Amino acid sequence: SDSLPVFTAEEVAQHRTPKDRVWVTYKDGVYDVTDFVAQHPGGAAKIMLAAGGSVEPFWGLYQQHMKQEVRDILAQYRIGSLKGGAAAVAPTEDPYRNEPRRHPALIVRSDKPFNGETPAELLVASPVTPNDMFFVRHHLPVPVIDNDKFTVTVEGAGMRSLQLSVQQLQQNFKRAQVAATVQCTGNRRTEMKAAPAPGGSGAQIKGLDWEVGAISNAEWGGVLLRDVLLAAGLQPGDASVQHIHLIGLDTDMTGTPYAASIPIDKALSEAGDVLLAWEMNGQPIPADHGGPLRVVVPGTTGARSVKWIGRIVASADECQGHWQQKDYKAFSPGTDWDAIDWSAAPAIQEMPVVSAICEPAEGAELSTYDSEVTIKGYAWSGGGRDIIRVDVSADGGKTWSPAKLSKHPHSRPSRAWAWTLYEATLPLPEGFKGQLQLACKATDQSYNTQPEDVSSIWNIRGLVNNAWHKVNVSVVE
Ligand code: HEM
Ligand code: MTE
Repeated sequence: SDSLPVFTAEEVAQHRTPKDRVWVTYKDGVYDVTDFVAQHPGGAAKIMLAAGGSVEPFWGLYQQHMKQEVRDILAQYRIGSLKGGAAAVAPTEDPYRNEPRRHPALIVRSDKPFNGETPAELLVASPVTPNDMFFVRHHLPVPVIDNDKFTVTVEGAGMRSLQLSVQQLQQNFKRAQVAATVQCTGNRRTEMKAAPAPGGSGAQIKGLDWEVGAISNAEWGGVLLRDVLLAAGLQPGDASVQHIHLIGLDTDMTGTPYAASIPIDKALSEAGDVLLAWEMNGQPIPADHGGPLRVVVPGTTGARSVKWIGRIVASADECQGHWQQKDYKAFSPGTDWDAIDWSAAPAIQEMPVVSAICEPAEGAELSTYDSEVTIKGYAWSGGGRDIIRVDVSADGGKTWSPAKLSKHPHSRPSRAWAWTLYEATLPLPEGFKGQLQLACKATDQSYNTQPEDVSSIWNIRGLVNNAWHKVNVSVVE
């Protein structure tokens, strides 16, 4: 880099549009990232915020950039060095200085924002996941909220605007309790990442390295969102309202909050069970899970269950935010980053049928003295579709046996929001030594089942992986 030209911060600041080229700095490097903008996994709008200046304050917020893979991308675009070096950039305060304490058992997939998964053996240890062990998925720092002053605003065209404290919700609305699984759309991304892009294109999946634990189950207590919307004067059947926007109190450095929307039919359905929840397994919802108040959208991907809910807006249009429009969409296995047309796919809402093996773990050693293997795991489907069967195999899917299912007592067909845990004991081939591949697949009440492997559902964002889950174990003396 010694032979590269040196630019002043003022010169860099003149490159803020594709026409003038888009330059950014990182430490003492100057980069022309114009050609990367459209491919940026976090969206073109986000990367443009740094145009003409340093990416560092932004990466202080989105620290998933603090890795070699990102430095390698930048290196391709290096055009020079910054006059005065890294010291020319003003230091910024750590936006993560107020994070809550977390249980060390969570497997950390990213520190800032915090993302941690539940260890697989804990998922199957109890029908509801203890609050401290419930997986955590944040896009931004946890907001600092004064619970005594907290209110949620509910509004929309033709409605009266309500501002409600948790206490007012508790006093004025009928209590509702729902057992519901929250699953991240990226659960099991690591298996998809480990598979090559179909057709050998070399396309690379980007996203957090979730194994099977970006899923947890809880009993949520609160009130139905439906009741609150009706109290605010929403007219069922009003064709001008098609979406309910759910806006969080966590914001990025431009003040833009995490936000999502759900279709009006889900929000208003009596059988939809969408909650404004303040209680999680009998406790106030902890900060990491959206306390004092969050939305729980049962049967829908976790991204719509907005935490720290600050504002609810009835609208004609879908939420235009990043996580509704430029993420949480899956594309053809043949679509690479530079070919994505985000408007071509709908935002993921309901999820497909999924299952996973939580015990034994990948690489576990079984003894030849054991004549059998016990497999434990979870199965779940979106849209409230109940799990009617889980099949397990000890020979990689050549032969199958049904597992014993254990359901939440409140689960019922078409409103089965909670996962089904399963267990099966399979005999081992007599005298067998060596490698075995365990596999599972679930079937839901619509007789949907899971694809055999990730290749047909492979997508560049690594979302909705619901392939058979396979675990390799060995039988040793
Ligand atoms: C995601 C590269 C600038 C915001 C990513 C990812 C890469 C990347 C490789 C995918 C990470 C992963 O999930 O594995 C870059 C490069 C930049 C840049 C080379 C150089 C200029 C920015 C800026 C912002 C930003 C300036 C914010 C203002 C984001 C966000 C995500 C992301 C929000 C998505 C994180 C998520 O999945 O929740 N970026 N980025 N990036 N980036 Fe950037
Ligand atoms: N709500 C807000 N306000 N901010 C977020 O980052 N993450 C979403 C959703 N709600 C998120 C949010 C995603 S992607 C998931 S999977 C779930 O919260 C995770 O909920 P949990 O952390 O309680 O497991």
